[in-house]
Amino acid sequence: MGAGGLGSDGLGSRSRGAGSPGSGGSGSCSPGSGGLGSRSPHSRREGSGSAGSGGLGPSGLGPGGLGSGGVEPGSRQGGGPRSGGTESGGTESGGTESGGPRAAELRVGSPRTGSASSRRTPGRSTPARIGDAIITTGGTEANQLALLLAREAHGRDLRLVCGANAHHSLPRAAWLLGLPEPLVIPTPTGTLDPTALAAALPDGPVLVAATAGTTDAGLIDPLPEIAAVCATHHARLHIDAAYGGGLLFSNRHRTKLTGLDTAHTLTLDLHKLGWQPIAAGLLAVRDPHDLDPLHHHADYLNADDDTEAGLPDLLGRSLRTTRRPDTLKIAVTLKTLGRTGLAALIDQVCEQAQEFARTIRDHPRLELHSPPTISTVLFRPAGATDDTVAEIRRRLLTDGHAVLGRAHLDGRLWLKTTLLNPHTRPEDLTALLRLVEGHTPA
Ligand SMILES: Cc1ncc(COP(=O)(O)O)c(C=O)c1O
Repeated sequence: MGAGGLGSDGLGSRSRGAGSPGSGGSGSCSPGSGGLGSRSPHSRREGSGSAGSGGLGPSGLGPGGLGSGGVEPGSRQGGGPRSGGTESGGTESGGTESGGPRAAELRVGSPRTGSASSRRTPGRSTPARIGDAIITTGGTEANQLALLLAREAHGRDLRLVCGANAHHSLPRAAWLLGLPEPLVIPTPTGTLDPTALAAALPDGPVLVAATAGTTDAGLIDPLPEIAAVCATHHARLHIDAAYGGGLLFSNRHRTKLTGLDTAHTLTLDLHKLGWQPIAAGLLAVRDPHDLDPLHHHADYLNADDDTEAGLPDLLGRSLRTTRRPDTLKIAVTLKTLGRTGLAALIDQVCEQAQEFARTIRDHPRLELHSPPTISTVLFRPAGATDDTVAEIRRRLLTDGHAVLGRAHLDGRLWLKTTLLNPHTRPEDLTALLRLVEGHTPA
């Protein structure tokens, strides 16, 4: 998935640019397809101006939070000298060598036990527990860190067990970290089958990785059932919600993520369903101490006396040293749109995907893979061979008409669209279908 989203030039400052590849017009409907233009429903509604023009909206992060958890700007350290700018405490970026701004990290309430926001939810009686989250360069780095934390907690014999539907970065992280060969369970239906998982679990320490929003089809593994298997077998659970995690913002769609709160570690990636420019990944953990293995000391950045004097120590919240202020844009978006503003965008792209899928289903010369779970729609010209499907996609790309994804599912190759531009119009999508038809041999 590409960049997309709220560009650094601000929400509302872009024109939609329909029709050009990568602009969300008739071609690509992928996340790389341009930002939110001046027609952002929420920015209009709140009338708070564009992010680029300042004006933080009133909704902010308060009661809404992220799902039942809540992402809140603010440092977990408390009491630092700076209040804005970069997230790279203890780094050299942005000229903040001696510890960064404390307001730059994000704090995440554990979805399971609640944050300040969910504590206010009537009917919740579980005690509050504040989790934690760190900013990463994307889903890949978040997955790598999840495996690293699991290895540090359970030792180097830890075995990754995941479905064939899992993102490639997970087995690759196992390789990078010197872990045993991962056990990859076939996923013929596109999701990880809990029964197959239970039957396959090996002896010894295990990290199960489930996916909420698969890369190929946007499917969500049965999280509660997988969590139950993990609990029975004392396996640690990581959930890669890089794509699907954004559904938490939406009251309409968040129930699809039931069970997310059972994860020991969670990957989120707001450059997908969060409309952020890259980089905007997050690794969330249940307890701030879960991040302890990352603690690190470099006297020139986080000397003990500086830390004791209250300077923030963010060096141990990443494997990187100098870091970009990626949290700033996320905080600005959350402050500007609030949960409800992001929810409106999510509801919109999910509805567009449903509508697009219906159009394909009713089309006599196209085949729909299945109704979308999130906003990914897979289709192919009816009766085409895989070679033809591959050729259509390449020609649309090289001719500059459209950037479509591809996915192998059910033994066949499909064209993939991931709708992430809320301004996509039905006519953009029918134009895309006409292009596909026009490039399909008779
Ligand atoms: C499920 C999933 N996990 C992880 C990633 C990797 O994210 P990134 O490209 O931000 O590293 C992706 C990317 O598409 C993904 O779909």
